[in-house]
Amino acid sequence: MIPKEKIDELREKLDIVDVISSYVPSLRKRGKNHMGLCPFHSEKTPSFTVSQEKGLYHCFGCGKGGNVFSFLMEMENISFGEALKIAADKAGIPIEAGQFAKAQNSASQATNKLFTIMELACKFYEGSLDKIKEYLDERKISDPKSFRLGFARDGWDNLLNFLLEKGAKIEDIEAAGLILKKQSGSGYYDRFRNRLMFPIMDQQNRVIGFGGRAVNNEEPKYLNSPESAIFNKGANLYNLGKAKDFIKRQKFALLVEGYMDTIACCEIGLDNSIAPLGTAVTSTQAKLLSRFTKVVVLAFDSDAAGLSASERAQEILEEAGISVRIASCQGGKDPDEIIKKLGKEAFIKSVQTSIPATEFKIKRVLGRFNIKEIEDKVKAAYEIAQFLSKEKDNLLQSEYAKFAAKLLNLPVEEITAAINSRNNYQKGGSNLKRAIPKAPSKVKEAEKKILKLILEWDEALSKIKEELTLNDFNQYKGIFEQIWTIKNNDILSSINNESDAKVLREIALSEEPLSNKDQMLKDCISSIKAFTIQNEMGFIRESLLMAEKNGEEETVNELKKRQLYLNEILRMLIR
Ligand code: UTP
Ligand code: MN
Repeated sequence: MIPKEKIDELREKLDIVDVISSYVPSLRKRGKNHMGLCPFHSEKTPSFTVSQEKGLYHCFGCGKGGNVFSFLMEMENISFGEALKIAADKAGIPIEAGQFAKAQNSASQATNKLFTIMELACKFYEGSLDKIKEYLDERKISDPKSFRLGFARDGWDNLLNFLLEKGAKIEDIEAAGLILKKQSGSGYYDRFRNRLMFPIMDQQNRVIGFGGRAVNNEEPKYLNSPESAIFNKGANLYNLGKAKDFIKRQKFALLVEGYMDTIACCEIGLDNSIAPLGTAVTSTQAKLLSRFTKVVVLAFDSDAAGLSASERAQEILEEAGISVRIASCQGGKDPDEIIKKLGKEAFIKSVQTSIPATEFKIKRVLGRFNIKEIEDKVKAAYEIAQFLSKEKDNLLQSEYAKFAAKLLNLPVEEITAAINSRNNYQKGGSNLKRAIPKAPSKVKEAEKKILKLILEWDEALSKIKEELTLNDFNQYKGIFEQIWTIKNNDILSSINNESDAKVLREIALSEEPLSNKDQMLKDCISSIKAFTIQNEMGFIRESLLMAEKNGEEETVNELKKRQLYLNEILRMLIR
């Protein structure tokens, strides 16, 4: 394995302009960067840009880009290891031939240590699996080995001692999240004790974290590994490594809520099952999934929490271009329970008879009202219109309006009118329109500037984290989600999907000067906050309308109070 330091040394020593010039003779200096005709697509005016200082190239025409190694790989159609070899020759840095074969793209020594430790820990837990046989029988898990389940025995330092014996260093074991510092005195103790261990793997099936389930009634029920340099909860999915081929083949993924549900589904042949990692579904996960399939069937828990998590997941997945269907989970709390109680056929049937999420939502609203009564019928119609107004596909919107109209026994025109009145309110078309910043282009611009600041200014990220949360971002939310969890300072090479990396390269290479960084940051933060508030105000206007219609006086007053308060903040922000 070539150490990361060596790779970095190579990258620093090589002049990217020198290397690229020999392939792109038209490369000339223009401002801070070099530009030339792109070698990857045919063009007459140069849009291929190289930054000597940043060691980056990017074509604004075809979007290809990266560092000196990816340039060589693309140009010569070779592997990363071979590109390193060429680069080492050019730079005159000797590297042993044997090291190239194993060299991995962006493999770093630090993360490799963590992978090694996690793998050792996984084996260690697997070794005690027989001690928890009774529980596995009780939960009817027949093939625990295929998920590499294990058991963390009771005791304060079983794993710690094992790993130390294997030569791991305390600080690395801590960085892997497997041990905790004692609060009093010195020393460390195992994080996972007396728990059934579910290893969490990345797409290459490398262990990156664990979920540990209590086997008695201890709290918390599940204890999860903390995030680490290799464990990003929002960017991975449980079982994806094993499921991805099945997902591609079956043309859909079955997304469930829990580890147990995933295993139960796989054991009855639904091998395309995956789950989030103890958190809500993120847009990064949605984008990741969309590379394998454009259809996701959701089988979340049937309780209220499950239903609302399911609706949130629907929104996020749809934003990534995925069609969402719902398998209605009746007769049990979650897929695992349904399978155990009603049998595998019943559950498989509910997956086979899943319905589109919007249809499910319409039916759910109808179920809550007695539509034989006029008032209830109208309320139901408004509620349905509210979410249909957000449907971006016009044809789908009008078809669902027809569908709802039929079920409600109302003329479709009335539903359409309700949808349109919602749309007007969302666009601020009422008399409440005021000096609110023109989103989203201004907000988009602010998010872009913030990314630029983060890339160029070490202190930016911590300042931003103090003022904004991930929910404040819109256009580049997926990128911010990744940046939020990146532990090193090399953001550009830590982004693992190409479309986000492309956006970042373009921003990094843009020539926009960064004068007065503090003021710029402040302005951007204000624009973004203002937009968040504006969104909430839009929501309040909608709710107010609804509450007024329903004569809910108390709610109306609450909403008006909040409206005044938000107005005040907004005024301060855009002053
Ligand atoms: P559930 O509470 O539905 O558990 O949590 P489950 O998957 O059905 O597990 P069993 O059947 O009770 O053993 C769903 C998921 O939420 C996360 C875990 O990822 C779990 O699989 N979770 C739950 C936690 O992270 N911590 C908790 O304390 C509980
Ligand atoms: Mn369960």
